[in-house]
Amino acid sequence: MDFSLSTTEASAVATRPAIAPSDSDALWWRNAVIYQVYIRSFADGNGDGTGDLAGVRAHLPYLRELGVDAIWFTPWYASPLADGGYDVSDYRQIHPAFGGLADAEALIEEALALGIRTIIDVVPNHVSNEHPWFQEALAAAPGSPERKRFWFHPGAGPNGDEMPTRWVSNFSGDTWTRTTQPDGTPGEWYLHLFTPEQPDLNWDHPDVRREHEDILRFWFDRGVAGIRIDSAALLVKDAALPEVPENPRPGEHPNTDRDELHDIYRSWRELADSYPGARVLVGEIWLPDTKRFAMYLRPNELHTAFNFDFMARRWEAPALRQSIDATLAAHAPVHAPATWVLSNHDVTRPVTRYGREDSSFAFATKRFGIPTDLDLGTRRARAAALLTAALPGTLYIYQGDELGLPEVETLPREVLQDPMHFRSNGIDPGRDGCRVPLPWSGSVAPFGFSASATVTPWLPQPASWAALTVEAQEGDPTSMLWLYRNALRIRAALPSLVDSDLAWLDSSDEVLAFSRGDDFVNITNLSDVNIALPPGADVLLSSLPLDDGRLPPDSTAWLRTQQ
Ligand code: NOJ
Repeated sequence: MDFSLSTTEASAVATRPAIAPSDSDALWWRNAVIYQVYIRSFADGNGDGTGDLAGVRAHLPYLRELGVDAIWFTPWYASPLADGGYDVSDYRQIHPAFGGLADAEALIEEALALGIRTIIDVVPNHVSNEHPWFQEALAAAPGSPERKRFWFHPGAGPNGDEMPTRWVSNFSGDTWTRTTQPDGTPGEWYLHLFTPEQPDLNWDHPDVRREHEDILRFWFDRGVAGIRIDSAALLVKDAALPEVPENPRPGEHPNTDRDELHDIYRSWRELADSYPGARVLVGEIWLPDTKRFAMYLRPNELHTAFNFDFMARRWEAPALRQSIDATLAAHAPVHAPATWVLSNHDVTRPVTRYGREDSSFAFATKRFGIPTDLDLGTRRARAAALLTAALPGTLYIYQGDELGLPEVETLPREVLQDPMHFRSNGIDPGRDGCRVPLPWSGSVAPFGFSASATVTPWLPQPASWAALTVEAQEGDPTSMLWLYRNALRIRAALPSLVDSDLAWLDSSDEVLAFSRGDDFVNITNLSDVNIALPPGADVLLSSLPLDDGRLPPDSTAWLRTQQ
């Protein structure tokens, strides 16, 4: 059995063509590789310790070399950063720490010239409390038109000093904050499903709908290829503000997955389709009910949505297989491609998660000090990288996963910023640990992250990251970076990985073995023994070296079979 991790082998399969995406490539999004840039932490071009657009522009060749088709940028707009930019105060301005509008326009164009599309993040459920609309609403009287764009409401109880509902925030804690009137007395309450700095918009209001359609046009006019829709299932509320029933029937929850949402997305789809080239809508939708989830992906609604079910599963073959089957089955009737996501800026890095006894992910179980075996986690994350890249649909890669960065669990408490940490009274470690700036080069912090060698990045990097820099990994053919580069090259070049269904092959319960097309097989070994590979197949890539021709535990092999 032939085995090699070298790029020569991968490039023999093909090299990516250097062409800009054309308008005729209408289906690009169905199997794209989309790289998530968390802009504060990608690369700092002006030396102030915070990542910015100049930093991204300087590293576009890195992304091209990696082999991505599109970049999704987490919010880059003007914002007080109460929730890392998911509190937008002006959608038509870039946050000054990141650059200006001209930089964004140049970036979109330069990326496209390298064959990379841009997807931006729109946060329609809420705005920043510093957004002019909210400031106007606070200054206006109860019942005024300005307040109608939000959810202002008198309090419950005899003195109005109880919250209008007992809905619980997605960031734990209350969802209502009481205002203070000009004379200093307590006034109405306003709704925020996240922090008080993120007041919820009222989607029954025509201004809210018009404004968001304008925002989409503003960015589509600037050449963006897609919109990631934040908290996409939360926008519409039941105006009667009932409590959440114990077991809500589909569509009955007062603030999640309301039927009226579909009208909004149908009109967004019409707008997106009115632009040349395929402009795509990607929903951030956390819903356990796969049928309800798939309703957002009907042909005249969103193009795709994140598949968090797979990401949340334990590293166990039956659980992963069940998730793959359920995902593909849910997407098939609406003809939407599935998406495969191992992590993002909200969740524990895979290298850490997979190195734990409980390798599933849930916000509710995030804690400090969980024992972690990073070697084990890294082996599994390598296997998972190949597994997800072999599945049919769109692949998302969160920045730094291609370097195998672990969650940073040693951040000093005084540098933590995430409201999830603070609103849990410090019980939840929060999401800062997966947002630490990338290590690019050198042996000491800031590891080439910043144009200034002496600056401390906005979140400090651990000294151990010297071994994980891009520079260090480029020189090491066994590195995570080489694995990702090789995998993406093969994925782009093999027609079977572009457009063919998955068929499970006979295997033990602890192995995920499937074919795509006539000539590709993926085998992921989640058992604790080496396993034999099918005879007569060429090994295109494997996440660990084979052991005497056999595939070790916690690894994946990609095989090319005889046609
Ligand atoms: C989901 C985003 O991914 C997360 O980072 C953010 O805090 C919430 N939505 C609120 O906007």
